[in-house]
Formats: sequence, structure tokens, C-alpha cells
Amino acid sequence: MLIDWKKIAWKIFEDIKKEVSRMSKKPALWALLVWDNSSSIRYIEQKKKWAEYVWIKFILKKLPEHVSENEILSTIESFNTDDNISGYIVQLPLPSHIDEKKIIKSISPKKDVDWFHPENQGKLMIWDKTWFSPCTPAWILELLKSTEIDYIWKQVVVIGRSNIVWKPITTLLINEGATVISCNSKTPNIRKFTIDADIVISAAWKPGLLTLDMIKKDAIVIDVWFTVIEWKIYGDADTHNMDLAWVKVTPVPGWVGPLTVAMLMKNTLKSWK
Ligand code: GUN
Repeated sequence: MLIDWKKIAWKIFEDIKKEVSRMSKKPALWALLVWDNSSSIRYIEQKKKWAEYVWIKFILKKLPEHVSENEILSTIESFNTDDNISGYIVQLPLPSHIDEKKIIKSISPKKDVDWFHPENQGKLMIWDKTWFSPCTPAWILELLKSTEIDYIWKQVVVIGRSNIVWKPITTLLINEGATVISCNSKTPNIRKFTIDADIVISAAWKPGLLTLDMIKKDAIVIDVWFTVIEWKIYGDADTHNMDLAWVKVTPVPGWVGPLTVAMLMKNTLKSWK
């Protein structure tokens, strides 16, 4: 079965739209794009489309790929000190000559609607629910809640390496009391872990990593990212060859990205307020 995530996304977008429609001064989301690779362009297009749908202004600032680190830092500083900007994102990945960690640390935590700054990440460690939510982990939790499976009593495998999905979703689920096994795409014999899991969350960015023989019957597979190869879209789960009577899987293509964007809009609204 393909998991119908659209109902959850629509509800979030419609709630935000209702709230923004009552505001005389509309919120804005600023975005800095340095490396316009095909995946980043797709992400940015999605963010613009959905921001405008909920009447949040979307303002894109582009810098050329060979820009210096100092130039990026001074653009970020101008965002940090501009009182008209309540929330902004720096689209990742950045080109290889840029120190990504340094850039992330320069974002003002109060304007960090993506929730990437270490101070915001630290708030997740102590489970501060008053603050911004990590966008992708937040929807994964909403999705699990909507399936009515009691994930607290289940075995969850999370595959990845990133600071923006893999670590926070692992932390979030641990905070919630779930049993979590953390793997990455190089984990030896990863099937040993996935085959017993009730829930597999894959954010490995590795097309075809998960095949049907690695998943137990009725398990939930959440495929977080997509990869574009020669204009075709692939997820980590090889859904083309999966028996959908066997697993419940989020679709790629038809990918869950708008849910991350929905959570980003939620954070943007919070920053504006
Ligand atoms: N690159 C991939 N996903 C994301 C995201 O959620 N935010 C930003 N800023 N960059 C990304």
C-alpha cells in the first residue's frame, strides 16, 4: 500500500493559509541558493509554490556557485540584522569549497526556520516543544501518528548520516520512547536489522538501497529523499519492484517533500509571530 500523506499535508497548509489570510501584514520566507544543482532547484521550486499557496511571500536570493565563503557570510549577516526578515533558509548542499558547518553556525537561531543551527538542534536534545520543529522529522512523527500504529512499542530502523534528518528523527523517536536502531548505507548486512523492523525510515540518499526481501510483511517504509538520475526520480526504496500488498511505503515519485515544506511554513509563521 502506498501511504497517503497528502491528507496530513493539506490540513497543515489549509490551517496556515487560514491564519495568514487574517493577517494584515503577510509573513515572508527568504531563501539563499548558492549551488543550483537539479535537486536544489526542485526543492526551491516546491518551497516557492507552497509558500505562495499559503500567502507567505517567498524571496529568493541567488549567489553564483563560485562565490567566496566571506560573501556568503556577509549575505547571511545582512539577513540576520534585517528586521524585515523573520525567517530564512540556506539551501543545502553548498559547493564543496564552502565550509557548510561554518555557514550554518552563522545563521541566527531565531531566524533559522529550517532548524539547522546547533543551538536549535540542542533544544531537541532536551525536547523543547515551544521552539521550531526540525521539519522532516516533525512530519515523520505526524505520519506515524496518523497510521495508528503505536510506534513507541515498535522497532524502528533509521538509515542515514545527516544532521538534518537522520540524527534528529532518531532523537525525536528516542524522546518519544521508541526503540531505535541507527544504521547507515555502509552498515554491514543491513538486512539483519531491517528485516525485523516494524518501521524503516530511510534517509540515505541511495537509490534502490531497500529491496522487498529486506522488509517484513506489513512494515512501514518511509522514504525521505529522492535522487534525480538522468531526469528520473528514484527513492531509497525500490518501489518499482516492491509488492505493495506486502509493505506500506511512502511513494517516490509522488514524493513526500511537500510535508517538509508544510513544516517549514509552520516554522516560518512561528518566526513571524
Ligand atoms: N537540502 C535538502 N533538504 C533541505 C532542507 O530541508 N532545507 C535546506 N535548507 N536544504 C535542504
